[in-house]
Amino acid sequence: MGRNWTPQSWRNLPIRQVPEYPDRSALAAVEATLRTYPPLVFAGEARQLRSMLGAVAQGKAFLLQGGDCAESFAEFRADNIRDTFRVLLQMAVVLTYGAACPVVKVGRMAGQFAKPRSSDTETVGGVTLPSYRGDNINAMDFTADARTPDPQRMLQAYTQSAATLNLLRAFAQGGYADLHQVHRWNHGFVERSPQGERYRELADRLTETLEFMAACGLTSETTPQIRETPFFTSHEALLLPFEEALTRIDSTSGDWYDVSAHMLWIGDRTRQPDGAHVEFLRGVMNPLGIKCGPSLDPDELIRLIDILNPGNEPGRLTLICRMGAENVEAKLPRLIRTVEREGRVVVWSCDPMHGNTIKSSNGFKTRPFDAILSEVRSFFAVHRAEGTHPGGVHFEMTGQEVTECIGGAQAITEARLADRYHTHCDPRLNASQALELAFLIAEQLKRERADLKKEAVASA
Ligand code: PEP
Ligand code: CO
Repeated sequence: MGRNWTPQSWRNLPIRQVPEYPDRSALAAVEATLRTYPPLVFAGEARQLRSMLGAVAQGKAFLLQGGDCAESFAEFRADNIRDTFRVLLQMAVVLTYGAACPVVKVGRMAGQFAKPRSSDTETVGGVTLPSYRGDNINAMDFTADARTPDPQRMLQAYTQSAATLNLLRAFAQGGYADLHQVHRWNHGFVERSPQGERYRELADRLTETLEFMAACGLTSETTPQIRETPFFTSHEALLLPFEEALTRIDSTSGDWYDVSAHMLWIGDRTRQPDGAHVEFLRGVMNPLGIKCGPSLDPDELIRLIDILNPGNEPGRLTLICRMGAENVEAKLPRLIRTVEREGRVVVWSCDPMHGNTIKSSNGFKTRPFDAILSEVRSFFAVHRAEGTHPGGVHFEMTGQEVTECIGGAQAITEARLADRYHTHCDPRLNASQALELAFLIAEQLKRERADLKKEAVASA
């Protein structure tokens, strides 16, 4: 890859999923404004995340990434941000216990606005309009006005991201994320929810562990790690004019960083090795994700890794596999074997959402809880068989009690989907479903650790 990289070099390459802005000069004016705006994150923070993900790649930590499919201007409220953050923390505590290693927390938050679509247009009642592409591009209402891409929306997305990050930083550092508090919330879930009883034992053990730690003098007052937590942001780097305008040289390292989020990922629809999105991301030093769907060929994956991580640095690349529960066993082993054979260091993460979307009989886009769980289980089983580290999970979820995914212990039925179906794009796990999934994964991680120990003893 001899070509020189600049923040604009993507502009000469084929690009997919781009909105057609009718007013090019208005777009240029917004880009110029964004270029003057302060960074949302700092390069040093992105480097910290990269080093934590390096530990994940080496099997010493676990990644939890989650949040909205698409953030929206309409649902921008402190309690929404707080509730999603709280559920992520609750999940992280449960997973920390199950995996017995640090859990790296990354939100699909503070910038997750742009959406790839399967079709450029949508036709309703004989009228064809541009598809909704996320609140930083156009609006969801089915009118010509709402669907026309409006560059001013990027400025609103920037402002909303800045305010969201401000709140997240306060929550993460200001006492809200205290482990004792998070554990109390989990206890509340165990006490109140119908499925809670099943997880009582795990929760009780955590209580004992915290009491033991306090007896040893490790309390919120003495130990910052108990009182606060690192928390990072991420989104799909889809809308390249926005990402380019927020790409800056870090004065410490002299490297380019996309300062719109700590971590950026490339979607399954825009990961062409010679396309614009890959070109843009190869030049910024943030940790990157690549969505790996069932159509990804192992050789193409190696090509992508060569382009995006030529130095084979641990933590630079997270492969977010989203095969669909049915496809994991057929597709994942070949990717893992090829990456291992070529000696590439990556984080393997499982997105059990995007390959398991179905249409309910009453017309809702939904995802069955069982299919989501089944994809996670198959992902773990394949890694176990290949001897590699199942490094993390990636969820679309919210802190609200929405009814968008069917099943789970709450047994949400198709008929109940209409009750609280609020998503601006894909169906999300609600707070109870997300936590239930974390408990189930933690149980599995714990069993696997016990099995590995037994195997080690048997072979010693
Ligand atoms: C997403 O993560 O919201 C998404 C669109 O995923 P994918 O690119 O894997 O389809
Ligand atoms: Co989605």
